Amino acid sequence: MSTAAIPTQREPELLGQTVVVIDGSAGIGLETARRARAEGARVILTGRNRDRLDQAACEISAEGTAAFDANDATQLKSFFQDLPDLIDHVMVTAGAPHRSPLEIPPEEARHDLTDHLLLALNVARSAAGKVGSAGSLIFMGGTGARRPKPGLAIVSTVTVAFPALIANLALELAPIRVNLIAARRLHQ
Ligand SMILES: NC(=O)c1ccc[n+]([C@@H]2O[C@H](COP(=O)([O-])OP(=O)(O)OC[C@H]3O[C@@H](n4cnc5c(N)ncnc54)[C@H](OP(=O)(O)O)[C@@H]3O)[C@@H](O)[C@H]2O)c1
Repeated sequence: MSTAAIPTQREPELLGQTVVVIDGSAGIGLETARRARAEGARVILTGRNRDRLDQAACEISAEGTAAFDANDATQLKSFFQDLPDLIDHVMVTAGAPHRSPLEIPPEEARHDLTDHLLLALNVARSAAGKVGSAGSLIFMGGTGARRPKPGLAIVSTVTVAFPALIANLALELAPIRVNLIAARRLHQ
């Protein structure tokens, strides 16, 4: 009996759906946006750098763009408020916990401990009313700083707190799905 694969035709998985990628101008965010377009989604990209954003939007024929710092809660809120229609999925790749030395000034330490967690919380707050009930929020975390090591006090605290935050957001926002991808760098 032949075991050759038989090509099958399938519907694009995201046909007619809208995906927002914060930040979709580079890296994992841009690649996610490319794949969402290939699956038939309309894609809206955000990012800080207008030129990079425009280049990415042009490459994938994005539906729209918005240039702002995702850590700015006011701009983030306005962005979601100003979306004309309900959206289906939000992917958040912007920001990352900082690897900061113990000696940094207290105010910097406060930012480094809170920035990435607050970004997720603010996206959840701002996007909740705009994502349809079958939709999802997907956040990027990592595994690199889960184990204690000298120099990782702050980044490691944020990294282990992130799954707890996302699990609680999932319960609060249900039936919208809220997931965390804990990616692992191949070369740390
Ligand atoms: N790549 C990996 O192997 C890996 C592994 C584990 C976890 N991760 C995590 O996955 C996420 C994405 O990683 P990546 O490799 O795709 O990063 P990347 O290639 O550096 O891209 C990150 C993008 O986010 C934008 N960005 C950063 N801070 C932002 C902010 N406050 N507001 C808006 N945009 C912002 C950057 O653009 P501008 O600077 O121009 O704004 C850049 O376009 C990060 O959280 C990273 O820690 C990555």
